[in-house]
Amino acid sequence: MAIGNSFIDEIKSKVNIVDVIGREVPLKQSGSNFKGLCPFHNEKTPSFMVNEQKQIFNCFGCGEKGDVIHFVQRFNNMEFMEACEKLAEEYNIEIPKYGTRRKEDLSRYYEINSVAARFFFDNLTRCANPGYTYIRKRGISDETIKHFGLGYSPNSWNSLYKYLQSKGVSDDDMLKLGLVTQGKKGVYDKFRGRLMFPIFNTRGKVIGFGGRALGDEMPKYLNSPESEVFLKKNNLYALNFTKKNVSDENQVIMVEGYMDAISLYQNGICNVVASLGTALTENQCQLITRYTKNVVLSYDSDSAGIKAALRGIDVMRSSHANVRILQVTGGKDPDEFVKKYGKQEFLKLVNGAAPATDFTLEMTKKKYNLSDNLEIIEYIRSCVPILKKLGAVEQDLYVKKLASEFDISEHSILTEIASDESRHSSPYPENSRKAREFKNDRYGNDERLEVSLLYILTRDTRYLDNFKEDDIEFRTVLGRELYNIASKLISRNGMAEINIDDIYKELDTEDEKALKDILSNIRIGADESSYYRECYVKYVQMHYGEKIIELQNAIAVAEKLGNEEEISRLAMQLQDIEEKRRKVR
Ligand code: CTP
Ligand code: MN
Repeated sequence: MAIGNSFIDEIKSKVNIVDVIGREVPLKQSGSNFKGLCPFHNEKTPSFMVNEQKQIFNCFGCGEKGDVIHFVQRFNNMEFMEACEKLAEEYNIEIPKYGTRRKEDLSRYYEINSVAARFFFDNLTRCANPGYTYIRKRGISDETIKHFGLGYSPNSWNSLYKYLQSKGVSDDDMLKLGLVTQGKKGVYDKFRGRLMFPIFNTRGKVIGFGGRALGDEMPKYLNSPESEVFLKKNNLYALNFTKKNVSDENQVIMVEGYMDAISLYQNGICNVVASLGTALTENQCQLITRYTKNVVLSYDSDSAGIKAALRGIDVMRSSHANVRILQVTGGKDPDEFVKKYGKQEFLKLVNGAAPATDFTLEMTKKKYNLSDNLEIIEYIRSCVPILKKLGAVEQDLYVKKLASEFDISEHSILTEIASDESRHSSPYPENSRKAREFKNDRYGNDERLEVSLLYILTRDTRYLDNFKEDDIEFRTVLGRELYNIASKLISRNGMAEINIDDIYKELDTEDEKALKDILSNIRIGADESSYYRECYVKYVQMHYGEKIIELQNAIAVAEKLGNEEEISRLAMQLQDIEEKRRKVR
């Protein structure tokens, strides 16, 4: 890693990834790699590789890859720092003493939110109130109320405001957290006469609230605005309560609403989270897949719910989750269903949940009248983009299914897929090792991008200096190979332009074919130099993006360690890189 953090560096230098993984996963030496069954997805033949020299692992089946810290994080569902500490303990590496530096502002905000939550809770539970009548009518028990810390915001303009004021909370802080609203004559309570759902982060801190109207008032749900401690896109409702259930059962039921989550939980289905009503975000996917890869999306059965599920499937795909779709029949949402039919019936729905691809195809099918041959053709064509997104094995399976369903040849579907613009397909011979690697490359288009980028080099060798200045490392095998060949040719001949045939000469036949294929698909358009620029910018942005994440991780570590010097050093590097990234436009 380019980022220096002595604690992390020490871990990486003392710990051997083969030993760490070998303790959890039986590994066999295979050439220069070690090989085993991937612990992150179900498989019968090993596609999980550990490279001792590079100290990385890579699963060609599910795409999971990374260094030893990443392995420990994923394997144990740990945060970055937790994983570092676990390794440090095991290898007798001194964990630097934690400093006293606290994120003071944040902890103050959490504290205020938690005081507010306690206020709402007391209002709901201490004496009769419309909130309590409402929630009991919806079948929620006292025990559940307590478990989730539900509350009631009195129907008054300033009861929370007065209360927080009496505790010494400033108007400014209340406003920042969205607990009160600025009016003409002063501030007033944001939540009035609502059932309150405190939203916790995974560490159990109150980060915001959802408030449900007790009647038909609009909006039905009023939520805290985003604040320094509340970023909707990074959180899942109820996960703090259910993460252990989710891990233990190695499955999560993801619902839309607060009430769905609570109601399922009360009925004994505890591996549940709610997506906070927003469209599922990539961060939420990443968050949940730290606990399990098996996700059952259980959205409402109305058209909005179906749309949300279809979108959710796409977002989930990049997290390599196994997604199933549960369709609630005989009830509008999971809450209604489980109340009406109980746990066992709901579990039947869970077990019968369709794999995401079946669901997507089924939904697509509904748009066509399949007694008409022309519409069958249309239907199959509209399946092509869906099939194209799938991994090799899954694609194979669904092509077969579709072929037998309509009694057509698999070949004809595959032809449709192949002719549907070959941009994303592998340039390597089908089923070759490289083709599989290509398919499973988590970055998907990396190779294509790198080749495009390197093609620039052949046209204008001055780009070599740019690559060097921006400290670019190519990460695909083909990319690195081309880069080395190009650099060699340039330094040997001092050329301003490289003849592509000279490059072909240096490649083996498989790479040569791959390169030709990629190049034949690159559409440069009339303006060559702007095409170059575009590729270059895209690549450099990605490259810097990764460096920035790396630095942010390192800063998180340094902050936890209270290492001020390190923090400011890293922060400067971060600024520097962010500046560089801004400049590449
Ligand atoms: N939601 C929201 N703001 C709204 C409506 C909905 O934030 N104005 C979010 C809430 O998180 C809500 C979820 O979207 O829980 C699903 O909305 P909906 O299906 O309308 O509500 P339910 O969860 O079914 O709520 P209830 O059962 O209380 O009617
Ligand atoms: Mn509902």
